[in-house]
Amino acid sequence: MQQQNTSNRSLPPIFKDESSIPAEYQVTEIHQREYLLNGELVPWNGPVTNIYSPVCVPTPTGLKKKLLGSIPNTTPKESLEALEAAVAAYNNGLGEWPTMSVEGRIQCMQKFVYLMIQQRSLVIKLLMWEIGKTLADATKEFDRTVEYINDTIDALKEHDRESSRFQQAEGTIAQVRRAPLGVVLSMGPFNYPLNEIFTTLIPALIMGNTILFKLPKHGVLAHYPLLNAFKEAFPKGTVNTLYGRGSEIISPIMESGKVNVLAFIGSSKVANGLKKLHPKVNRLRAILSLDAKNAAIVTKNANLDVAVNECILGALSFNGQRCTALKLIFVQKEVAAAFTEKLSAAVGALKPGLPWENGVRITPLPEDNKPAYLKDCIDDAIAKGAKVMNENGGLQEASFVFPAVVYPVNDKMKLYHEEQFGPIVPVVPFESIEEPINYQVNASHGMQVSIFSEEPTEVAKLIDSFVNLVSRVNINCQAQRGPDIFPFTGRKDSAEGTLSVFDALRSFSIRSLVAAKITESNKNLLNTIVRDHESNFLSTNYIF
Ligand code: G3H
Repeated sequence: MQQQNTSNRSLPPIFKDESSIPAEYQVTEIHQREYLLNGELVPWNGPVTNIYSPVCVPTPTGLKKKLLGSIPNTTPKESLEALEAAVAAYNNGLGEWPTMSVEGRIQCMQKFVYLMIQQRSLVIKLLMWEIGKTLADATKEFDRTVEYINDTIDALKEHDRESSRFQQAEGTIAQVRRAPLGVVLSMGPFNYPLNEIFTTLIPALIMGNTILFKLPKHGVLAHYPLLNAFKEAFPKGTVNTLYGRGSEIISPIMESGKVNVLAFIGSSKVANGLKKLHPKVNRLRAILSLDAKNAAIVTKNANLDVAVNECILGALSFNGQRCTALKLIFVQKEVAAAFTEKLSAAVGALKPGLPWENGVRITPLPEDNKPAYLKDCIDDAIAKGAKVMNENGGLQEASFVFPAVVYPVNDKMKLYHEEQFGPIVPVVPFESIEEPINYQVNASHGMQVSIFSEEPTEVAKLIDSFVNLVSRVNINCQAQRGPDIFPFTGRKDSAEGTLSVFDALRSFSIRSLVAAKITESNKNLLNTIVRDHESNFLSTNYIF
């Protein structure tokens, strides 16, 4: 198998002088000095944290990450104020927002989407600068989020229509609806700083809960243009923002016991630590999306061109920084050489550059320690017998790392076990199909798998083995979350609860019913309440 000659490896220059950046993508520093608390944009005069871009600019002393602005570095005092605002707005379920009619909540959400769309171009630009997402992917993230909100509104309408009738059984008449749970703490990751947070925050909100919204570490300024939309669209205290170090500002909130739902996307270690802080675990519902190291399995019966294309999309979209990314590729020995050669050539041809450049596929990484960590993973694999197979694989320039196809990987290497969350494609040769199955059996996670084969009996056996080990089996395609109407969940340490447009509405609510014995006087009573629109809950209104 051909390994690239390492002597003449070099990358084209990734980082360029600022003056060469097209005017429409240049950015002015944003120094945020306010945060959303109890319906107000409260001024902040305390300490701040600087926000730097993964995009570096040349300076007389070398490449430096570009300063994008700064954000409030709020303390536990402000966190607890935000908690109290959310608790007061919920008011034990008696607040304006939790008692508002579904129609009323939908109108508020429609106003929010309208105001959000006004900020589209600025948010997309900030996503590119803050996390290095390509123009195409940043645009997709924004538009997909708007679509998610609109779909959520439609799903709630549909659900409400189904609930807008009475049911009778065993002499009892009842109306069953879904009611909110209370205060939701929503925390999301940097890789989809807008979309992933909104896939919990929006359904939680529209179901009548009040929100504490912890901004992600990277991608925080991208939310600043949207704060006013939250302020304008929802009653005071319904959405409150938290800035600062999670370890300092989140612990007192969880320890208070006043959080009813933890919606968290990140590592299982952090999620478990947060849950344990809650004094009454039975009162805490957790909706979690956590660790994953999804495998691809390429058998000797695969169409190798399809497998290569999909594995590249799966492993290297947004530089491999997706929870759903393919992070380990098993390939059957008979086709290992051919597959790895095609894969290496295709990876070598991916265009590196800055997020707004035409056709760019690989961009700088936002996490400071990531290039060193990726180098460590590659060095560990090389020391244990693997090689970097593609041209320029693993080459680094400041925050930029060119993807590396590493082969042959085995279970002694870090790359076999650790979630690299970055641009490395580890390839494991296998003889028996039991080997990748055993990988999944022994793994601590269980999100998705991608199977590449065109042989029906083989695919069927793999489907039946994997459906009980992971939560989505992809056939001849990459792993992914979407379409968002499909359930997104995982087994073991990969997830708790299920998200999809519809499932999320269920996850952030509980069924509540009004029931009465069928007597003449009860029938009259309920009919009068419904006819005179006396209750927001007990209602047969049909939402169009
Ligand atoms: O990072 C995890 C995301 O939910 C993945 O979403 O598969 O649509 O990229 P995606």
